[in-house]
Amino acid sequence: MSIELLGITKKFGTLVANDDINLKVESGEIHAILGENGAGKSTLMNIVYGLVKADSGSILIDGTKVEINDPAHALSFGIGMVHQHFMLVPIFTVLENIVLGHENSKNGLLSFSEARDKLSDILKEFNFEIDPDEIIENLPIGIQQRVEIIRALIYDAKVLILDEPTAVLTPQETDELLNIMRKLKAKGTSIIFITHKLREVKEVADKITIIRQGKVVGTALPSASKEELASLMVGRQVDLLPSKKLVEPGASVLSIENLSIYNESGRKIVDNLSLDIKAGEILAIAGVQGNGQSELARAIVNLELNATGSIKINNKEILGENVSTSLNSGVAFIPESREIDGIIASFSIAENLVLDVHDQEPVSKFGQLNHRYIEDNARKLISEFDIRAQGIFESASSLSGGNKQKVVLARELSRKVDLVIASQPTRGLDVGSIEFVYERLLAERASNRAVLLISSELDEVAALADRIAVIYKGEIVGVVGPETSREKLGLMMAGIAS
Ligand SMILES: Nc1ncnc2c1ncn2[C@@H]1O[C@H](COP(=O)(O)OP(=O)(O)O)[C@@H](O)[C@H]1O
Ligand SMILES: [Mg+2]
Repeated sequence: MSIELLGITKKFGTLVANDDINLKVESGEIHAILGENGAGKSTLMNIVYGLVKADSGSILIDGTKVEINDPAHALSFGIGMVHQHFMLVPIFTVLENIVLGHENSKNGLLSFSEARDKLSDILKEFNFEIDPDEIIENLPIGIQQRVEIIRALIYDAKVLILDEPTAVLTPQETDELLNIMRKLKAKGTSIIFITHKLREVKEVADKITIIRQGKVVGTALPSASKEELASLMVGRQVDLLPSKKLVEPGASVLSIENLSIYNESGRKIVDNLSLDIKAGEILAIAGVQGNGQSELARAIVNLELNATGSIKINNKEILGENVSTSLNSGVAFIPESREIDGIIASFSIAENLVLDVHDQEPVSKFGQLNHRYIEDNARKLISEFDIRAQGIFESASSLSGGNKQKVVLARELSRKVDLVIASQPTRGLDVGSIEFVYERLLAERASNRAVLLISSELDEVAALADRIAVIYKGEIVGVVGPETSREKLGLMMAGIAS
């Protein structure tokens, strides 16, 4: 089934989210739509899926103009969609999620037994092992996403829209998803693949349409270079492989010995781990999410309560102290969950920029905040870190992901520190912001700070690290150089090689 969009325009107030968009997805094609955060990708797809009404323009299915009023209607035309934020009901089973919520579908209501049969066919066809009676919230994210895909397939979707499906996946889960996409294509399903990740686009797409600020700015084939694609996306030259200066590592800044971390139920999450990072060096911890790397980062800032062993910063033991001791010993902490640990959403940008030091001079004196300093500091950092905001008093909650992360970077890196802990620092960011984060981390290295980078993005690890320590089940299975192949790292991350 082919689908064609003609002159689609959608405004939200004065903002033009989609501006006269023309796009054709051929039958059995994987068509990637590439664009930065806010480019208008989700809006466009929500229009195709009947969730948002376009102001003007038309949609053609196999050459015939159609009106799509709601998702059930879209599904009856053979259009399925997996959203960026899943739409499954967490406390329902797999099967309940597949059957319920489609009562208006023109295909008619599926009975539980019909759905169970169809589900078992699809599970066999794709070699998936999913228990139809398992509660959704008990399944890993990658599997929940498969349930969403299966749900569309069960209702015979001929065009499948995947909105940033890999944002929540590990490298392995991502590769598996790309394989599922190839299988679907082989069966004749058309796929609209929304992403901002260039490697994925180059791997699976047949055709690429690039959207910037609501407009189609170009089309490309997967043979286009990453630099070409990134430049089209961002609208300027982008440096994807930042150049690393030669830095002679100095004295040891972080020294961890025999660190073990236990979770609340007493299970060992990090197992007798030792590592060392010198000034001017970036050590990356590569690993699949959930192998102890988050806890390792948190332990260094004393956020993990059940940890044994030794963590020294500049030769001073800090394990067992509190968070402010860690931060005041010269640690910058860029946390994995910036929304929870990185910023206080209801506070202004200016306030967020002094969170760690609000009780110290010059931010406050004798319990009085120095507003003049806080405001000057905010203006200076907003300009230095290129934070796109209405003003210093805007609340942090209204910033985009990339700009929230820049607030965290600005605050943490502007303190006097020797060690920077950057946990998944580019997760969910667009290419422009990723480039900025890379440059900053390399600048930290160049100014002789030690950097602990925790990342599940192998491209990132390869671009930044001087040494890569691979973590698996709480243990470092090996330390290798940045030239190590993706395949080798993947095997190490799966605990197969060392
Ligand atoms: N319901 C809405 N109301 C107001 N503005 C919106 C709404 N949905 C999206 N936008 C705005 O439209 C623009 C495009 O958003 P979106 O389509 O989500 O982009 P993308 O998916 O490419 O990141 C953004 O500036 C976003 O803030
Ligand atoms: Mg989106």
